[in-house]
Amino acid sequence: MALIPDLTDFYSGGDEAGRLTSGRTIGTLELVRTQELLRAHLPPPPASVLDVGGGPGVHARWLTDSGYEVLIVDAVERHVVEARGQGLAACVGDARSLDQADGSFDVVLMLGPLYHLPDSSERALAWREARRVVKPGGLVAAAALNRYAKLLDLDSRSALDIATTGLRVRSNGPTSYYHDPAGLQAEAQEAGLDHLAVHAVHGPAYEALRAEERRTGRKNLGGKALETALAAARFTDDHPGLVVTSLHLLTIARRPT
Ligand SMILES: C[S@@+](CC[C@H](N)C(=O)[O-])C[C@H]1O[C@@H](n2cnc3c(N)ncnc32)[C@H](O)[C@@H]1O
Repeated sequence: MALIPDLTDFYSGGDEAGRLTSGRTIGTLELVRTQELLRAHLPPPPASVLDVGGGPGVHARWLTDSGYEVLIVDAVERHVVEARGQGLAACVGDARSLDQADGSFDVVLMLGPLYHLPDSSERALAWREARRVVKPGGLVAAAALNRYAKLLDLDSRSALDIATTGLRVRSNGPTSYYHDPAGLQAEAQEAGLDHLAVHAVHGPAYEALRAEERRTGRKNLGGKALETALAAARFTDDHPGLVVTSLHLLTIARRPT
């Protein structure tokens, strides 16, 4: 099965690990929120985690250091090489057709593949594969882009297109898919998973942070900006309607026993 065009090119130049770990405020926000949301839902270590689309291993790193047994599967060889370079277990593979055995992991993470699969039938394959390889009763946590969040971005020319179609078509990179939060839940359920929650990862302040980056030319905006954005994101955990304000969504589902 072919990967979407340009996926490897898209990840060939940048520093995917640095996206979350370089100290840039929006990266730190994503890392801290993903950590706290996963910690709230994952079974305690040691538990086995298949990190599908795990990239160079930013999440695999802290999960491994916390006592989880993690295997990364990623479609981009460069990421697998980087992950192995820091001692993580990683192999090249495709979310839509995993090599792992049925019911072989306590947890499956899918923090990346869904927005790189614009075709709904291909996302359905990825969801079904996640359900197949997780143990009965095990957890699937999947990240998605929220199609309404770009409406908060004054600099986006395609925000209305994305909100209408769910697609972001770039001239210089792969087309990305943006979910409606209810559609994300429906995809998990159609794959035979029980849906538990959808969380706002970045929360409502993400576009304000990006605007401040543009205004000041600074990527590390300081502790107060991070603290405020984190507080706003955490506020949404008790106010589910606000999930539509967040660029990244994290959905949590369980394979029935
Ligand atoms: C934005 S990165 C996210 C990396 C990491 N999971 C994180 O949350 O920081 C998306 C990752 O998904 C991977 N990916 C995209 N489509 C995939 C597919 N069909 N199968 C496996 N990995 C895929 C990409 O290679 C990339 O490493």
